Amino acid sequence: MRIILLGPPGAGKGTQARRLMEKYDIVQIATGDIFRENVRTETPLGKQVEVILKEGRLVPDSILTEMISERIDRSDCRNGFILDGFPRNVVQAEALEKMLKEKGLCLDCVVQIEVDDENLIERISGRYSCSSCGEVYHDKFKKPSRPESCDKCGDFGKFIRRTDDNKESVRTRLEVYHTQTAPILPFYRSREILKSVNGMAGMDEVTRQIEAVLKAENGCNRLSAE
Ligand code: AP5
Repeated sequence: MRIILLGPPGAGKGTQARRLMEKYDIVQIATGDIFRENVRTETPLGKQVEVILKEGRLVPDSILTEMISERIDRSDCRNGFILDGFPRNVVQAEALEKMLKEKGLCLDCVVQIEVDDENLIERISGRYSCSSCGEVYHDKFKKPSRPESCDKCGDFGKFIRRTDDNKESVRTRLEVYHTQTAPILPFYRSREILKSVNGMAGMDEVTRQIEAVLKAENGCNRLSAE
C-alpha cells in the first residue's frame, strides 16, 4: 500500500503514520524527521536546512525530489510506504507522480486530515517527544503513563521540544500550508484518490476513520485498470 498523509502542521500526520505503519507493515517516510536527524548529526544537508526549518519555511524542491526517490528505492519500501510531509506543493506533487510512473508504481490513496487552525496551535505548543526513540507526547492529549519516562522505550528524563514549535514559526508553517500545500488538494481530487477524515476527533477515532477509508479505497488498482 502506498499512501500520502496530508494536513497542516500538528494535524496528526506523524501520530497516525506510526500507527498505520505497524498495522499495514509499511514504512513511514517523514521528510521533517529526515531533516531534523540531519540537523542533529550536523551533516552538510543538516547545515543547509537548519535555519529554514527553524523559521518554518520550505526546503528547496530539488533537495526533496532526489531524497524521496532514493528513499522509495530502498528494500524496506517493497510492501509500500506512507509519505508524511511530502509532497508539500504542486511542483513536488507533479515530481512525485512522474517519479512513481517511472518506477512503475502508483498511489493507493491520499488522506487529508482536517483540523481547525486554532486547535493546531494548541497541539503544536503542547507537543514533546522522547529523544531516544522519537515517541511523540502532548502536555494535555497524550501524557506518558509515568511522568519523566517514555512509555515506548522506558528511557528516563529525555524529553525534548522541537525548535520550530514556537509561535512565530508555527504562524509561518500555517501560512505556508494554506498558500503552498493546500493547492495540491485539487490536484489529487482530480485523480480521484483524495479522501478526507475529521482530524478534530480523538487519536483512536482518527485512526479508525483512516482505516475505513483505506479499506474502501483501491485507487492504485483502479487507476491501473483504466
Ligand atoms: P514536518 O516535520 O513535516 O512538520 P509539519 O508538517 O509542520 O507537521 P508536524 O510534524 O508539526 O505535525 P503532525 O501532523 O505530524 O502532527 P503530530 O502527529 O506530531 O516538517 C518540518 C519542516 O521540515 C517544515 O516546516 C519544512 O521546513 C521542512 N520540510 C518537511 N517536508 C518538506 C517538504 N516536502 N518540502 C519542503 N520542506 C519540507 O501531532 C501534533 C501533536 O498533537 C502531538 O503532540 C500529538 O500527540 C497531538 N495529537 C495528534 N493527533 C491528535 C488528536 N487527534 N487529538 C489530540 N491531539 C492530537
